[in-house]
Amino acid sequence: MPETWSFHSAGQIIFGRNSVRQLGEVAKQLRAKRVFIVTDRVLEGAGIVDRIRQPLNESGVELQVFNGGEAEPSIHAAEACIQRGRSFRPDAVLGLGGGSNMDLAKITAVILAHSGTPRDYIGEFKIPAPILPLVCVPTTAGTGSEVSAASVLTDTENQIKVGILSNYLRPRIAIVDPLMTVSCPPKVTADSGIDALTHAIEAFTAVDNADFPIPLHEKTVYQGRHPMADALAAQAITLIGVNLRRAVKNGNDLEAREGMALAATLAGLAFSNVGVAAVHALEYPVGAATHCSHGAGNGLLLPYVMRFNLSVRPREFAKIAQFLGENVAAMDEKQAAERAIQAVTQLRSDIGIPLRLRDLGVQQEQLHPFAEKAFGIKRILRVNPRPATVQDLESILQAAF
Ligand SMILES: NC(=O)c1ccc[n+]([C@@H]2O[C@H](COP(=O)([O-])OP(=O)(O)OC[C@H]3O[C@@H](n4cnc5c(N)ncnc54)[C@H](O)[C@@H]3O)[C@@H](O)[C@H]2O)c1
Ligand SMILES: [Zn+2]
Repeated sequence: MPETWSFHSAGQIIFGRNSVRQLGEVAKQLRAKRVFIVTDRVLEGAGIVDRIRQPLNESGVELQVFNGGEAEPSIHAAEACIQRGRSFRPDAVLGLGGGSNMDLAKITAVILAHSGTPRDYIGEFKIPAPILPLVCVPTTAGTGSEVSAASVLTDTENQIKVGILSNYLRPRIAIVDPLMTVSCPPKVTADSGIDALTHAIEAFTAVDNADFPIPLHEKTVYQGRHPMADALAAQAITLIGVNLRRAVKNGNDLEAREGMALAATLAGLAFSNVGVAAVHALEYPVGAATHCSHGAGNGLLLPYVMRFNLSVRPREFAKIAQFLGENVAAMDEKQAAERAIQAVTQLRSDIGIPLRLRDLGVQQEQLHPFAEKAFGIKRILRVNPRPATVQDLESILQAAF
């Protein structure tokens, strides 16, 4: 099949230090007079909410702040947020935080526009039309939710992460201000940073667009690998290679923070068009059962999934080694590809990501049920360049155990 791909993004991306000062202008542009801010208490405590409030107050916007966001938010947290939003009757929603708060803001903007409950929208293409105008301001350099088509919630009853996917979920405006990430503690920097690396690597090594196994008559947001996303993923991997260790070591290293903020958004643009793959499929059950952060779970699993995919993507892996700053000039393709796995493994341990599933408290007998749950997440598993059976997934988990 020949390649046919499209590219979707946030409506507008505003990038740079102190770019949040433009929020007043942004509200005017959206004709928003009542803005519902979705955030959490940690960010309030860090003074970040005040930095958002100021430019909005100055342009006369009425605000309501929901500070009940939580890491890896549950459907219950989403319902609480929606309830608050409903009583305020905003004309725009602003997601302020890491992926967790941005994803809560997204589902809130859906339901304020279309009613229903979060569960009604789980899956792809369930959102019928545009949502309330949504602005996202990331405070981690990680998820890329500020440009992505996803909202990820935790279904605590069924112990699984669930995804809502629709191009209507892409924010109208993303304001990526690297200064918002300076207060991230090293663990949040490391976990969210390796999530961005996972996005870029999964996009860069995904199944080709031309071979993407979309069943006939089925629509999907993800399209497989294409050249525009490749360029973005390559640059994201390069920036992460230069900046992630630095940002974890010294949170006040503004150059590193800026590099990571850009990398996370570029990786978000790449994966939200191409798709994420087996790392994410495996992280969903692992994360829901162990309550590890999404980034820590992905970072832990990444080298093991790379090992599984190595045989079908040697050329791409060799390039990844190069992007990560490895000297591969004297190596053949196979050696260079192997070096990519080593480089990611080294980076992972340098920034303090847990190395084995048992470190998260996982028990041997959980591996098979995790593999079965991951196998059920077809929409992302089919993005993986090498098809994986339940047994393959269990072997990957066994290697990571
Ligand atoms: N929508 C998407 O496209 C997408 C993509 C990947 C991941 N996700 C989801 O995003 C979530 C993870 O997001 P995350 O990695 O950005 O972390 P997070 O949003 O869960 O935040 C982690 C912790 O860091 C704190 N924090 C965030 N920014 C801070 C700052 N500047 N200073 C101090 N503390 C700060 C938060 O309060 C929170 O306690 C998961 O639920 C994951 O499934 C979504
Ligand atoms: Zn992710």
